[in-house]
Amino acid sequence: MKVLIYSAKGFEIPYLKKANSGKHKLTFIEEALSSQTAEKAVGFDAVSIFSADEACFITVEKLKDFGVKYITLRSVGHDNVNLRAASRVNIRVANVPAYSPFAIAEHAAALLLALNRKLIESNYRVSHYNFNLDNLVGMDLNHKTVGIVGTGKIGSVMTKIMHGFGCKVLGYDIKEDAQLKEQFQIDYVPLLELCQKSDIISLHIPLNSDTHQLINKDVISEMKDGVILINTARGSIIETSDVIAALRSGKIGALGMDVYENEKAIFFKDRSQNVPDDNLFIKLNAMPNVLITGHHAYLTNEALTNIAETTIYNLDCWDSGKETENELTDLSGS
Ligand code: NAI
Repeated sequence: MKVLIYSAKGFEIPYLKKANSGKHKLTFIEEALSSQTAEKAVGFDAVSIFSADEACFITVEKLKDFGVKYITLRSVGHDNVNLRAASRVNIRVANVPAYSPFAIAEHAAALLLALNRKLIESNYRVSHYNFNLDNLVGMDLNHKTVGIVGTGKIGSVMTKIMHGFGCKVLGYDIKEDAQLKEQFQIDYVPLLELCQKSDIISLHIPLNSDTHQLINKDVISEMKDGVILINTARGSIIETSDVIAALRSGKIGALGMDVYENEKAIFFKDRSQNVPDDNLFIKLNAMPNVLITGHHAYLTNEALTNIAETTIYNLDCWDSGKETENELTDLSGS
């Protein structure tokens, strides 16, 4: 199969080549898929995309016209693909449903630890030979309450990690996980109750019409003063300007984020010579109690290996006329 890999990054190409071992003809390009770049897929059977690519209605229609039959995502989240449009034109879509929930949950925990113990500020001071300890006070995580919003694959690992720190874990999800209740004594509560009781809130739900800007000023007003909010899920799950206002007022004590609502226009490229003209991002970046990583929670050897192997597996299935169990339909809801 001839496959065009959009948004190919140098670090992932060796993993994809190794998993492919010459089976498919892979072509790597740096550009993201969009309605403008769809024409690059002329002559390809399949395209592979990541989270910054946009397979909207128009793009999907163009891909179909150019002869593309398959889209395989190198991500869990698929909010960037119009599945209904793809199904209408018979383009089959698959994702990597689980490549390493550990990578993401451990990154969420890393953001939390760094914010709580002010590691970035502390390291900055030490690197300037400033050993003053003022304003570096954090809190013990032991016995604190952590609210996990979305207790699926990643949220489950986060539950285990936080339980290991001695935290009480509250969960909010549309379906409860009996094993988490038994193993880690997680208590499922409504979202507002989770907000009222949690010292730390970590988001692990998919972005969809129900979760878009779920964390807005009304929900934030229910949170404890000084709560630490961690978002490694999708940027648009939070209403960024409401979160900035809450960071300013001290309602939110700190924010750790690996995702940002306008990240498609900013992340994944060196923009140091042409700083993005994005006021929300500039405000967040300027705040000492905000720690931002550029959607790199998935960057572990294990995750990259699994992403590559599942991507090639999806292509293998289609190439041999089979369905892959990773196929997505417009009814999948996330
Ligand atoms: P998952 O599907 O295993 O878990 C999602 C959980 O959210 C499920 O338990 C589901 O019932 C729950 N949920 C869905 N809609 C909900 C709603 N409206 N209200 C409450 N709960 C709801 O997914 P997984 O693997 O845990 O990933 C979660 C999200 O993390 C992905 O959708 C993706 O957007 C994001 N992600 C981010 C990465 C990064 O590099 N920063 C990498 C991988 C995933």
